[in-house]
Formats: sequence, C-alpha cells, structure tokens
Amino acid sequence: MLICHCNIITEKEIEEAIVAILDQDPWQLVVPAKVYHWMHKRGRCCGCFPNVVETIIRVTENYHARSEADAVTIVSHLDRVRGLRVQFGSSTHERRKAGHRAA
Ligand code: FES
Repeated sequence: MLICHCNIITEKEIEEAIVAILDQDPWQLVVPAKVYHWMHKRGRCCGCFPNVVETIIRVTENYHARSEADAVTIVSHLDRVRGLRVQFGSSTHERRKAGHRAA
C-alpha cells in the first residue's frame, strides 16, 4: 500500500526502515523525519505523517513484543512513541465522528 504519494513510498518500505532504525538502537524514539532521512527522502506535503506515525507505533510495538526487555521498560517507551500522535496530528481521526449528523 502506498503511504507517501509525494515520494512514492510503500508501507512495506517504511516498515523495513523502522526495523533497521530500531536494530541500531531499540530504545530510540523513531519519528517520521528520521524514517524519511533513513530512506534519503524528505517530507514534502507531510500529509502522510499521521499514517507514518501509526506505522511507527505498530512496528515498534511488534518489535518490542519480540524482545527480551522487561514489561515496564517497554510500556514506558511505547507511551513515548504513542505521544507522536499528538505531535503529528494522528490523534484525531479523519472520518466523521460517531455523533455526526448530516442534517
Ligand atoms: S504524501 Fe508524503 S510527503 Fe506528501
């Protein structure tokens, strides 16, 4: 699935970059700019960043679920990673809210 239309980057490419970054240092905070820098790309319109943040959260959770680290360390790190939603605007969903009425 294409995530970034400006740079033609697929979800799989982003997942591979995140894993490669986490292999270097599993406890670093991965942000979209770091992923794009890793791939020698740069955000242009940055409209894809909320989806990249969700991919970072999912891949980081899976990465640490396979690790041997203790649960407290993993949970506190994942809280920092989920904080990216606030920073990059993916905390609000793009669809209509449940209580939305057209008329
Ligand atoms: S869609 Fe990714 S930078 Fe524009």
